[in-house]
Amino acid sequence: MIVLGIETSCDETSAALVACDDSGESGAGGEVLADALWSQREHQRWGGVVPEVAARAHAHYLAPTVQRVFQQANLSWRDIDCIAVTAGPGLIGGLVVGVCYGQALSIASGKPFMAVNHLAAHALSVRLNVPCRFPYLLLLVSGGHCQLLCVESAGSFRLYGTTRDDAVGEAFDKVARMLDLDWPLGPHLEMCAREGNPEAYPLPQAFVGAQHCDFSFAGLKSAVRRKVEAQPPQTDKEKADMAASFQRTAIAMLCDRSARAMERFQRDYPSKQPYRFVAAGGVAANGALRQALGGLCAEHGFQLHVPPMELCTDNAVMVAWAGIERMRESGDNSRGVGGSPFDAIGLSAHPRLPLV
Ligand code: KG4
Ligand code: ZN
Repeated sequence: MIVLGIETSCDETSAALVACDDSGESGAGGEVLADALWSQREHQRWGGVVPEVAARAHAHYLAPTVQRVFQQANLSWRDIDCIAVTAGPGLIGGLVVGVCYGQALSIASGKPFMAVNHLAAHALSVRLNVPCRFPYLLLLVSGGHCQLLCVESAGSFRLYGTTRDDAVGEAFDKVARMLDLDWPLGPHLEMCAREGNPEAYPLPQAFVGAQHCDFSFAGLKSAVRRKVEAQPPQTDKEKADMAASFQRTAIAMLCDRSARAMERFQRDYPSKQPYRFVAAGGVAANGALRQALGGLCAEHGFQLHVPPMELCTDNAVMVAWAGIERMRESGDNSRGVGGSPFDAIGLSAHPRLPLV
């Protein structure tokens, strides 16, 4: 089975061809035949992703990006089994570009179209390389989302907790901008934090020890803003201290809520040992977070699985892989999910498409 994946939900224009055998025994992985990603730099001078600029850039780059993966793999559309496209959540302009392109390709080629939920693609990405069995506990941390979920199958998710205001990636980006760091913001904040003292600035943590599994990052972000405005960091060392203090606090909050979710998961699935914990989404590329989660999992008796860095941030490999997972689960490789060439939600893009 070979699936073409297309991802255009934010500021990465990406296409990939992923293959796997049909059986899917114990979540056997996939093989990336070709992978192309265009990270839009057009947004850099605005300090954040501008939706209309993103949509125009996707329209410009998508066709050559898809062409490139077919060339790389030395394949044509005749060789593929399905076209899997991110249909939401995300920025509507980019989603429409990807969905319409995928549908046009589907009509022209006669290959089935599958609409993929971007969050499901993040949630399943780990299984491309590791036979991580269901159910597993997932910390999904990206620029638009911060959730704790139980992944029961490729199409079934239970929400344990979510952010009540900002996503953690958004907080990383905003703090990086306050510190005048370069694009891409999250990775530069991590780099800057490496040189700093994480204890330099005491910052507030939300919901520590709370019974629920929800997050809140608005208070932390505002506290950094107040400190930066009151006393703008002058030297690289002062910036690094603030970056390190913010990162330490954000990670402490993610770990505290994850610990609560681990207790709940053990209560909900007592027999599903060994317990597995997966971190996915752009912020899961953060080395300090990965390290902290390693310690947390060891403490709570969970195995930690994190996708490789390039699979954490947005990419079309995970979209193709989610398409494969859904096809395997539906047991109908010839027509795609929903039984028709078009999956029900595939008829349009959904900026707020929920996972649960
Ligand atoms: O999953 P993703 O690529 O896009 C969304 O679906 O939102 O996540 C992007 C987010 C951005 O906020 C970015 O700053 C953050 O992930 N990010 C990081 C790192 N790499 C990406 N945050 C902290 N440390 C990183 N190394
Ligand atoms: Zn994402």
